[in-house]
Amino acid sequence: MAVPEKVCAVSDIADGAMKVFTVGGKEILVANVGGIFHAVQAKCPHMKANLVKGKIENGVLICPMHGARFDLTTGKLMKDVSWLISKLTFHGAKDIESFAVTVDGNDLKVTV
Ligand code: FES
Repeated sequence: MAVPEKVCAVSDIADGAMKVFTVGGKEILVANVGGIFHAVQAKCPHMKANLVKGKIENGVLICPMHGARFDLTTGKLMKDVSWLISKLTFHGAKDIESFAVTVDGNDLKVTV
């Protein structure tokens, strides 16, 4: 059974910011969206762009390379209007893995 692993202090990731950690041998991106923390895989499944170099808009993580959009809560690839416009650009993109985040006092923990 997976055990939550401390990645940093809660205060280390400001609202709207994201950081990458290695947990259980995986690169994990942790994002703070309005005080709610989310953890997802750090690389885009399309062409391995570092998602931490992307941006967050309304809880959606946007890949810096071709603009694929992922729901930070679920990791789901969002097939909205921007997807329809650019789907040929990032053909093959898919959902990203998401992981449980736990706030334990001042510690932020991720379970992979
Ligand atoms: S590398 Fe992320 S959409 Fe292409």
